[in-house]
Amino acid sequence: MKILIISTSLAPDSHSRACALALRASALKLEERDVEIDLVDLRDHPLPLCGGDACWADPAVVALQARIQAADGLALASPVYNYDASAAAKNLIELTGEAWSDKIVGLICAAGGRSSYMSLMGLANSLMLDFRCVIIPRFVYVTADHFDEAGALADDDILQRVDALARALIQMTRALRP
Ligand SMILES: Cc1cc2nc3c(=O)[nH]c(=O)nc-3n(C[C@H](O)[C@H](O)[C@H](O)COP(=O)(O)O)c2cc1C
Repeated sequence: MKILIISTSLAPDSHSRACALALRASALKLEERDVEIDLVDLRDHPLPLCGGDACWADPAVVALQARIQAADGLALASPVYNYDASAAAKNLIELTGEAWSDKIVGLICAAGGRSSYMSLMGLANSLMLDFRCVIIPRFVYVTADHFDEAGALADDDILQRVDALARALIQMTRALRP
């Protein structure tokens, strides 16, 4: 069974990426022998903007489509920008579209404040209604308050939520994958 964690922030000291890395660590800690954990950092995969001529044939898009397609369950980590997922996260989904079909998806987001908690629901709706994804009803939502001065994730409640998301992602993917 393959789990793919995708970090979509392009910021150097990204909080959502820190959570994506923590999720990978939590998932590996579970030592599920039949589970392969993979991580994509979008900084390493410059993508064209969706809609441009031949964007879907771009080698970077084709390669990511294949990795998403091969995964049974995914976790998407995104910044909150303008009360939504970042343009980079949305662009990835627009470019890789059908590869998301029938996946089990967990969501992680980093925001500036506490009021944008529901801001990924538009993205969740699109994944559910366009691609029949099952969205894990257990989000990880972080703000700067959850990080220490060195930029490390340092909040017990959030670390427990990351652990819980890792468990749910593996359990639900195992139970629900087609
Ligand atoms: C263009 C832009 C728009 C933003 N919009 C929101 C917003 O609507 N709600 C919010 O809580 N934070 C907002 N923020 C703050 C980011 O969500 C915050 O900096 C977060 O840490 C970014 O994620 P990252 O650290 O993983 O890159 C915005 C930041 C930027 C640069």
